[in-house]
Amino acid sequence: MKKFIPIFVVTLAIVLFFNGKKYDDLVSSRLNSSIAVCLEGQSCGQATAMKVAAVGGARSAESIYTTGCAACHDGGVAGAPMMGNKSQWEARQAKGYEMLVNNAYNGINGMPAKGLCADCTKEEIGIAVQYMLDTI
Ligand code: HEC
Repeated sequence: MKKFIPIFVVTLAIVLFFNGKKYDDLVSSRLNSSIAVCLEGQSCGQATAMKVAAVGGARSAESIYTTGCAACHDGGVAGAPMMGNKSQWEARQAKGYEMLVNNAYNGINGMPAKGLCADCTKEEIGIAVQYMLDTI
């Protein structure tokens, strides 16, 4: 019986060693897998799409406007074209929708880039611009 104990211990050591090896391989393969890192406020394709999906779908134009744009566009702060003001918006519409979205996304004069919606995508800024244009 005493002879078997060392054999048992060696067998156990071998089994543990190879298991450990497998575990190391698993960990290093996970560490090597490509992970897309994306900082808040950057537009980063899929990572952003996943984040939006994770919080239950895209935000509505109205909620983006209310939280990100209304602070200035409701009352015309610093010369912001006012919500529902036809003449103020018509003058700007002459630039074309694409240009308005670009300017809202990148910022122009007193209009800060993306307004107060730092994590908005260009598409979300676009629907917020459309939301304002729809009221005139
Ligand atoms: C801190 C105040 C502020 C916030 C918040 C803000 N805006 Fe503006 N916005 C302005 C001002 C000021 C202008 C006028 C800029 C100019 O042409 O001098 C402006 C202009 C614009 C224009 C016209 C740009 C052009 O080319 O004529 C669009 C479109 C616009 N804002 C969209 C938005 C949207 C969409 C949001 C919310 C996501 C938003 N803004 C949030 C202040 C703001």
